[in-house]
Amino acid sequence: MKNLKEINVDNKKVLVRVDFNVPLTSELEVSDTFRIEAHLETIKYLKDNNAKIILISHLGNPKGREVGLSLKPVAKKLEEISSFKVNFVEDTLGDKVNSAINEMEAGDILLLENVRFYKEEEENNSEFAASLARLGDIFVQDAFSVCHRDHASVSQISSFIESYAGLLLEKEVRVLDSVNEGVKRPFVAVIGGAKILNKTSVIENFLDKADVILLGGMVANTVLNFKEIYGEIKDKEVFEAIKNIDFESPKVIVPIDGIISRENFSRVGGVETIKEGEDIVDIGPETIEYYKAIIKKAKTVVWNGPMGKIESEISAKGTEAIARIISSQNNYSVVGGGETVDFINSKNMRKEFSFISSGGGAMLDYISGKKLPGIEALNKHYER
Ligand code: 3PG
Repeated sequence: MKNLKEINVDNKKVLVRVDFNVPLTSELEVSDTFRIEAHLETIKYLKDNNAKIILISHLGNPKGREVGLSLKPVAKKLEEISSFKVNFVEDTLGDKVNSAINEMEAGDILLLENVRFYKEEEENNSEFAASLARLGDIFVQDAFSVCHRDHASVSQISSFIESYAGLLLEKEVRVLDSVNEGVKRPFVAVIGGAKILNKTSVIENFLDKADVILLGGMVANTVLNFKEIYGEIKDKEVFEAIKNIDFESPKVIVPIDGIISRENFSRVGGVETIKEGEDIVDIGPETIEYYKAIIKKAKTVVWNGPMGKIESEISAKGTEAIARIISSQNNYSVVGGGETVDFINSKNMRKEFSFISSGGGAMLDYISGKKLPGIEALNKHYER
């Protein structure tokens, strides 16, 4: 991957695709700055090297222009945490944008409005991508977390402009490749979360690469259903998607107990004790101890997805326990996935892991061995 450090950016208009898809409060204030901070290294490097920095990002999934999904509050937050002046322009293309860019001096930073306000972005429209490309002299792809999308500012833009990988993108790829290729063993994968459909290829990949796979959350419940330890799988699509996965492999470990809930009542019990009308909402204390013994021996741990329903305190304890167990060991720990990372941030534990991926779906796709359109586009660009 060609590094932006290999080129001269002095006084050049450098268009940087970032992912400022951050949570906002009802007062439209940024409530989590992790993704903004993740891009600071690239932005600082470009500023130190006198580039004119033009930032492009999406926020949420707007249907047209939605005031609540404007990037304006993000510009303010970026200014606050970087201590750099950040200008914002209320469009992504057009006269206002052109004149804001014409007025830029070396080292200036300009954030454009949410690129998804234009439906052409998600339609992967090539004219739109070409218009975006005309805004700059050089394009830098730094948004690893959106590289799994086939969108104009992700996979199409590099056909029209000299393009490079940003420092965050490079770091993500380096770390995730090292996990995929040359890990220190034992290598334990911890997989949870709400939907097994998003995780099937990840589980298959780890069946091949990891020594142990510890399951939690709804993913574990579905496997417990599948193994007929309790209930059964009613959703045909889910059944079809997982029926050929080798859940009988000794590598796959499912919870032995859980927090079992019925309406407003919950109890701790073995997974085989669950009755009609009850749900497992978290892993239980015996499972935590069991998982702890395995994680303690691991040299590498990759974790994606909460162990229970973290939106409620009572069913967030398993996820917190696993976070504390992984982070307290002398291992190489890689964590990813929107919900998992938000949870870690909410517990102020970000610095306690070796690497936190900025990618949710992108990280899952990447570690499953899928090709990400944003990265493929850069590779294709270099081959030209
Ligand atoms: C993410 O939050 O994973 C990225 O920003 C991509 O967002 P999307 O799922 O709306 O495409």
